[in-house]
Amino acid sequence: PFLTDWRAFPKLELHLHLEGAAPPALVRRLGAAQAIPLDGLFDAAGRYAASDFTSFLVAYERMSRVFAKPETYRELAEAVLAEQAAHGVIYTEIFISPPSLGFTSAEWLTMLAAIEEGANAAEASHGIVCRLIPVVIRHHGPEKALEAVRTVLAAPRGRMRGFGLAGDERRFTAADFIRPFAEMAEAGFRLTAHAGEFCGPQNVRDTLDLLHVERLGHGVRAVENPELVRRLAEEAIALELCPGSNIALGLYPDFASHPIDALRRAGCAVTVSTDDPPFFHTTISDEYLGLEAAFGYGEPEFAAFNRAALDAAFCEPALKTSLA
Ligand code: ADE
Ligand code: ZN
Repeated sequence: PFLTDWRAFPKLELHLHLEGAAPPALVRRLGAAQAIPLDGLFDAAGRYAASDFTSFLVAYERMSRVFAKPETYRELAEAVLAEQAAHGVIYTEIFISPPSLGFTSAEWLTMLAAIEEGANAAEASHGIVCRLIPVVIRHHGPEKALEAVRTVLAAPRGRMRGFGLAGDERRFTAADFIRPFAEMAEAGFRLTAHAGEFCGPQNVRDTLDLLHVERLGHGVRAVENPELVRRLAEEAIALELCPGSNIALGLYPDFASHPIDALRRAGCAVTVSTDDPPFFHTTISDEYLGLEAAFGYGEPEFAAFNRAALDAAFCEPALKTSLA
Protein backbone atom coordinates (compact mmCIF):
# COMPACT_ATOMS: atom_id res chain seq x y z
CA PRO A 1 0.00 0.00 0.00
CA PHE A 2 0.97 3.65 -0.45
CA LEU A 3 2.62 4.96 2.71
CA THR A 4 3.40 8.50 3.77
CA ASP A 5 6.71 10.22 4.48
CA TRP A 6 5.91 11.59 7.93
CA ARG A 7 9.14 13.54 8.46
CA ALA A 8 7.65 16.99 7.79
CA PHE A 9 4.57 16.40 9.98
CA PRO A 10 4.97 18.56 13.14
CA LYS A 11 5.34 16.36 16.20
CA LEU A 12 5.65 16.56 19.97
CA GLU A 13 7.69 13.83 21.64
CA LEU A 14 7.38 13.33 25.41
CA HIS A 15 9.39 10.16 26.07
CA LEU A 16 13.04 9.99 25.05
CA HIS A 17 16.12 9.11 27.10
CA LEU A 18 19.09 11.39 26.33
CA GLU A 19 21.86 8.75 26.40
CA GLY A 20 19.46 6.23 24.83
CA ALA A 21 19.18 8.52 21.81
CA ALA A 22 22.97 8.89 21.37
CA PRO A 23 23.98 8.42 17.72
CA PRO A 24 26.21 5.30 17.44
CA ALA A 25 28.87 7.27 15.50
CA LEU A 26 29.17 9.82 18.33
CA VAL A 27 29.47 7.03 20.91
CA ARG A 28 32.18 5.27 18.87
CA ARG A 29 34.12 8.52 18.42
CA LEU A 30 33.98 9.43 22.12
CA GLY A 31 34.79 5.82 23.06
CA ALA A 32 37.85 5.74 20.78
CA ALA A 33 39.07 9.14 22.01
CA GLN A 34 38.94 7.95 25.64
CA ALA A 35 40.07 4.34 25.00
CA ILE A 36 36.78 2.99 26.36
CA PRO A 37 36.19 -0.54 24.97
CA LEU A 38 32.79 -0.87 23.31
CA ASP A 39 33.07 -4.44 22.00
CA GLY A 40 29.77 -6.26 21.57
CA LEU A 41 27.74 -3.05 21.66
CA PHE A 42 27.32 -2.73 17.89
CA ASP A 43 26.25 -5.10 15.11
CA ALA A 44 28.10 -5.56 11.80
CA ALA A 45 26.19 -2.62 10.29
CA GLY A 46 27.39 -0.30 13.08
CA ARG A 47 23.97 -0.10 14.75
CA TYR A 48 23.41 -0.87 18.42
CA ALA A 49 23.06 -4.66 18.64
CA ALA A 50 19.55 -5.90 19.39
CA SER A 51 18.91 -7.38 22.84
CA ASP A 52 16.34 -8.23 25.48
CA PHE A 53 15.47 -5.75 28.25
CA THR A 54 18.04 -6.97 30.79
CA SER A 55 20.94 -6.82 28.32
CA PHE A 56 19.60 -3.53 26.94
CA LEU A 57 19.89 -1.94 30.40
CA VAL A 58 23.44 -3.31 30.75
CA ALA A 59 24.39 -2.04 27.27
CA TYR A 60 22.81 1.34 28.11
CA GLU A 61 24.92 1.79 31.22
CA ARG A 62 28.09 0.61 29.44
CA MET A 63 27.54 2.96 26.52
CA SER A 64 26.79 5.87 28.85
CA ARG A 65 30.36 5.74 30.17
CA VAL A 66 31.61 7.56 27.06
CA PHE A 67 29.73 10.57 28.54
CA ALA A 68 31.55 10.38 31.87
CA LYS A 69 33.04 13.83 31.19
CA PRO A 70 30.01 16.05 31.81
CA GLU A 71 31.10 18.54 29.11
CA THR A 72 30.36 15.88 26.47
CA TYR A 73 26.65 16.38 27.13
CA ARG A 74 26.66 19.57 25.07
CA GLU A 75 27.47 17.66 21.90
CA LEU A 76 25.11 14.81 22.86
CA ALA A 77 22.14 17.11 23.50
CA GLU A 78 22.70 19.07 20.29
CA ALA A 79 23.08 15.91 18.17
CA VAL A 80 19.98 14.26 19.65
CA LEU A 81 17.82 17.38 19.21
CA ALA A 82 19.08 17.91 15.63
CA GLU A 83 18.08 14.33 14.79
CA GLN A 84 14.63 14.78 16.34
CA ALA A 85 14.17 18.06 14.45
CA ALA A 86 15.08 16.25 11.20
CA HIS A 87 12.07 14.02 11.89
CA GLY A 88 9.65 16.89 12.44
CA VAL A 89 9.79 17.16 16.24
CA ILE A 90 9.06 20.76 17.26
CA TYR A 91 8.82 20.17 21.02
CA THR A 92 10.31 17.42 23.14
CA GLU A 93 10.74 16.43 26.76
CA ILE A 94 13.94 14.50 27.43
CA PHE A 95 14.83 12.24 30.35
CA ILE A 96 18.17 12.90 31.97
CA SER A 97 19.50 10.86 34.86
CA PRO A 98 21.66 12.42 37.56
CA PRO A 99 22.79 9.19 39.23
CA SER A 100 23.51 7.03 36.21
CA LEU A 101 27.18 8.01 35.89
CA GLY A 102 27.78 8.52 39.56
CA PHE A 103 28.27 12.25 38.99
CA THR A 104 29.14 14.43 41.93
CA SER A 105 26.96 17.50 42.48
CA ALA A 106 29.57 19.68 40.77
CA GLU A 107 29.72 17.36 37.77
CA TRP A 108 25.92 17.32 37.61
CA LEU A 109 25.91 21.14 37.44
CA THR A 110 28.44 21.01 34.61
CA MET A 111 26.37 18.37 32.82
CA LEU A 112 23.17 20.42 33.17
CA ALA A 113 24.88 23.55 31.88
CA ALA A 114 26.27 21.57 28.93
CA ILE A 115 22.79 20.22 28.10
CA GLU A 116 21.31 23.72 28.31
CA GLU A 117 23.99 24.99 25.88
CA GLY A 118 23.31 22.11 23.48
CA ALA A 119 19.56 22.79 23.73
CA ASN A 120 20.11 26.51 23.06
CA ALA A 121 22.21 25.70 19.99
CA ALA A 122 19.65 23.21 18.64
CA GLU A 123 16.80 25.65 19.21
CA ALA A 124 18.72 28.38 17.38
CA SER A 125 19.59 26.22 14.36
CA HIS A 126 16.58 23.91 14.11
CA GLY A 127 13.79 25.63 16.06
CA ILE A 128 13.22 22.57 18.26
CA VAL A 129 12.21 23.43 21.84
CA CYS A 130 13.09 21.12 24.70
CA ARG A 131 12.29 20.68 28.37
CA LEU A 132 14.00 18.21 30.69
CA ILE A 133 12.76 15.49 33.04
CA PRO A 134 15.34 14.19 35.51
CA VAL A 135 14.66 10.52 36.25
CA VAL A 136 15.84 8.23 38.99
CA ILE A 137 16.76 4.67 38.12
CA ARG A 138 14.59 2.04 39.78
CA HIS A 139 17.18 -0.70 39.99
CA HIS A 140 19.61 1.67 41.73
CA GLY A 141 17.16 1.68 44.64
CA PRO A 142 15.34 4.26 46.78
CA GLU A 143 18.40 5.62 48.59
CA LYS A 144 20.15 6.62 45.38
CA ALA A 145 16.83 8.11 44.27
CA LEU A 146 16.66 10.38 47.30
CA GLU A 147 20.29 11.42 46.79
CA ALA A 148 19.43 12.28 43.18
CA VAL A 149 16.47 14.36 44.35
CA ARG A 150 18.77 16.39 46.61
CA THR A 151 21.16 16.91 43.69
CA VAL A 152 18.37 18.03 41.36
CA LEU A 153 16.81 20.40 43.90
CA ALA A 154 20.18 22.06 44.56
CA ALA A 155 20.66 22.92 40.86
CA PRO A 156 19.24 25.86 38.89
CA ARG A 157 15.96 24.67 37.36
CA GLY A 158 16.80 25.68 33.78
CA ARG A 159 14.67 23.60 31.40
CA MET A 160 13.77 21.01 34.06
CA ARG A 161 9.99 20.74 34.49
CA GLY A 162 9.19 17.15 35.44
CA PHE A 163 10.47 14.21 37.44
CA GLY A 164 10.31 10.52 36.65
CA LEU A 165 11.31 6.94 37.26
CA ALA A 166 13.02 4.69 34.68
CA GLY A 167 15.05 1.48 34.78
CA ASP A 168 14.09 -2.09 35.58
CA GLU A 169 10.40 -2.16 36.53
CA ARG A 170 10.79 -5.68 37.94
CA ARG A 171 12.98 -4.35 40.74
CA PHE A 172 11.56 -2.61 43.84
CA THR A 173 7.95 -1.36 43.93
CA ALA A 174 6.17 1.97 43.57
CA ALA A 175 5.93 2.14 47.38
CA ASP A 176 9.74 2.34 47.57
CA PHE A 177 9.74 5.66 45.71
CA ILE A 178 6.98 7.53 47.55
CA ARG A 179 9.39 9.95 49.22
CA PRO A 180 11.39 11.11 46.21
CA PHE A 181 8.15 11.63 44.26
CA ALA A 182 6.49 13.51 47.13
CA GLU A 183 9.50 15.80 47.55
CA MET A 184 9.73 16.59 43.85
CA ALA A 185 5.97 17.28 43.63
CA GLU A 186 6.30 19.59 46.62
CA ALA A 187 9.08 21.44 44.77
CA GLY A 188 6.77 21.99 41.79
CA PHE A 189 7.96 19.25 39.43
CA ARG A 190 5.31 17.43 37.34
CA LEU A 191 5.37 13.64 37.61
CA THR A 192 5.64 10.66 35.28
CA ALA A 193 6.93 7.11 35.77
CA HIS A 194 7.69 4.05 33.66
CA ALA A 195 5.08 1.44 34.59
CA GLY A 196 3.08 -1.24 32.82
CA GLU A 197 5.99 -2.05 30.49
CA PHE A 198 7.49 -5.18 32.08
CA CYS A 199 4.97 -5.50 34.91
CA GLY A 200 1.20 -5.71 34.67
CA PRO A 201 -1.88 -3.71 35.76
CA GLN A 202 -1.13 -3.88 39.49
CA ASN A 203 2.07 -1.90 39.06
CA VAL A 204 0.21 0.71 37.01
CA ARG A 205 -2.42 1.06 39.77
CA ASP A 206 0.26 1.33 42.48
CA THR A 207 2.16 3.92 40.47
CA LEU A 208 -1.00 6.05 40.14
CA ASP A 209 -2.10 5.59 43.77
CA LEU A 210 1.27 5.95 45.50
CA LEU A 211 3.34 8.21 43.26
CA HIS A 212 0.48 10.41 41.97
CA VAL A 213 1.86 10.68 38.45
CA GLU A 214 -0.11 12.48 35.72
CA ARG A 215 1.52 10.46 32.93
CA LEU A 216 2.81 6.92 32.47
CA GLY A 217 5.93 5.85 30.59
CA HIS A 218 4.46 3.12 28.37
CA GLY A 219 1.58 1.94 30.60
CA VAL A 220 0.66 -0.41 27.75
CA ARG A 221 0.05 -3.45 29.92
CA ALA A 222 -2.89 -1.61 31.53
CA VAL A 223 -4.74 -2.99 28.50
CA GLU A 224 -4.84 -6.35 30.29
CA ASN A 225 -7.44 -4.92 32.70
CA PRO A 226 -10.51 -3.17 31.22
CA GLU A 227 -11.39 -1.45 34.49
CA LEU A 228 -7.91 0.07 34.66
CA VAL A 229 -8.19 1.24 31.05
CA ARG A 230 -11.46 3.00 31.95
CA ARG A 231 -9.70 4.65 34.90
CA LEU A 232 -6.83 5.89 32.68
CA ALA A 233 -9.36 7.38 30.26
CA GLU A 234 -11.49 8.98 33.00
CA GLU A 235 -8.52 10.47 34.83
CA ALA A 236 -6.92 11.55 31.54
CA ILE A 237 -3.60 9.91 32.45
CA ALA A 238 -1.43 10.50 29.39
CA LEU A 239 0.26 7.39 28.02
CA GLU A 240 3.76 7.89 26.63
CA LEU A 241 3.53 5.01 24.16
CA CYS A 242 6.64 3.82 22.31
CA PRO A 243 5.48 0.97 20.05
CA GLY A 244 8.85 0.37 18.34
CA SER A 245 10.56 0.09 21.74
CA ASN A 246 7.98 -2.44 22.95
CA ILE A 247 8.38 -4.47 19.75
CA ALA A 248 12.21 -4.37 19.92
CA LEU A 249 12.14 -5.53 23.55
CA GLY A 250 9.77 -8.40 22.76
CA LEU A 251 6.54 -7.25 24.44
CA TYR A 252 4.60 -7.49 21.18
CA PRO A 253 5.58 -9.16 17.91
CA ASP A 254 4.63 -6.25 15.61
CA PHE A 255 2.78 -2.94 15.27
CA ALA A 256 -0.52 -4.69 14.47
CA SER A 257 -0.35 -6.52 17.84
CA HIS A 258 0.41 -3.34 19.83
CA PRO A 259 -2.34 -2.16 22.24
CA ILE A 260 -2.16 1.46 21.01
CA ASP A 261 -5.31 1.09 18.94
CA ALA A 262 -7.30 -0.52 21.77
CA LEU A 263 -6.16 2.23 24.17
CA ARG A 264 -7.01 4.97 21.64
CA ARG A 265 -10.49 3.51 21.04
CA ALA A 266 -11.05 3.29 24.80
CA GLY A 267 -10.57 7.05 25.01
CA CYS A 268 -7.11 7.11 26.63
CA ALA A 269 -4.82 10.10 26.16
CA VAL A 270 -2.43 8.42 23.73
CA THR A 271 0.89 10.00 22.71
CA VAL A 272 3.68 8.51 20.57
CA SER A 273 7.43 8.59 21.25
CA THR A 274 10.60 6.61 20.48
CA ASP A 275 12.19 5.92 23.93
CA ASP A 276 15.77 5.08 22.78
CA PRO A 277 15.51 5.36 18.98
CA PRO A 278 18.92 4.10 17.74
CA PHE A 279 18.84 1.19 20.20
CA PHE A 280 15.48 0.11 18.81
CA HIS A 281 16.41 0.95 15.19
CA THR A 282 13.59 3.45 14.89
CA THR A 283 12.82 7.15 14.41
CA ILE A 284 9.61 9.02 15.22
CA SER A 285 8.72 9.06 11.49
CA ASP A 286 9.20 5.27 11.40
CA GLU A 287 6.80 4.96 14.34
CA TYR A 288 4.17 6.95 12.43
CA LEU A 289 4.81 4.82 9.34
CA GLY A 290 4.43 1.56 11.28
CA LEU A 291 1.16 2.83 12.78
CA GLU A 292 -0.10 3.95 9.37
CA ALA A 293 0.71 0.52 7.91
CA ALA A 294 -0.82 -1.46 10.79
CA PHE A 295 -3.92 0.61 11.61
CA GLY A 296 -4.42 2.95 8.66
CA TYR A 297 -3.76 6.02 10.80
CA GLY A 298 -3.46 9.30 8.96
CA GLU A 299 -3.39 13.00 9.77
CA PRO A 300 -6.53 12.98 11.99
CA GLU A 301 -5.16 10.27 14.31
CA PHE A 302 -1.65 11.73 14.42
CA ALA A 303 -2.99 15.25 15.04
CA ALA A 304 -5.04 13.85 17.96
CA PHE A 305 -1.93 12.18 19.45
CA ASN A 306 -0.03 15.46 19.20
CA ARG A 307 -2.91 17.41 20.80
CA ALA A 308 -2.87 14.89 23.66
CA ALA A 309 0.89 15.40 23.97
CA LEU A 310 0.43 19.17 24.07
CA ASP A 311 -2.21 18.81 26.81
CA ALA A 312 0.07 16.50 28.81
CA ALA A 313 3.28 18.48 28.26
CA PHE A 314 5.03 19.70 31.41
CA CYS A 315 6.09 23.04 29.93
CA GLU A 316 4.82 26.46 30.97
CA PRO A 317 1.41 27.62 29.61
CA ALA A 318 2.88 30.42 27.43
CA LEU A 319 5.02 27.89 25.56
CA LYS A 320 1.99 25.61 25.10
CA THR A 321 0.08 28.48 23.56
CA SER A 322 2.90 29.16 21.12
CA LEU A 323 3.04 25.46 20.14
CA ALA A 324 -0.71 25.12 19.60
N1 ADE B 1 15.65 3.40 30.27
C1 ADE B 1 15.82 3.59 28.97
N2 ADE B 1 14.86 3.00 28.26
C2 ADE B 1 14.04 2.40 29.14
C3 ADE B 1 12.85 1.63 29.04
N3 ADE B 1 12.30 1.34 27.85
N4 ADE B 1 12.28 1.19 30.18
C4 ADE B 1 12.83 1.48 31.35
N5 ADE B 1 13.93 2.20 31.51
C5 ADE B 1 14.54 2.66 30.42
ZN1 ZN C 1 11.65 4.92 28.52
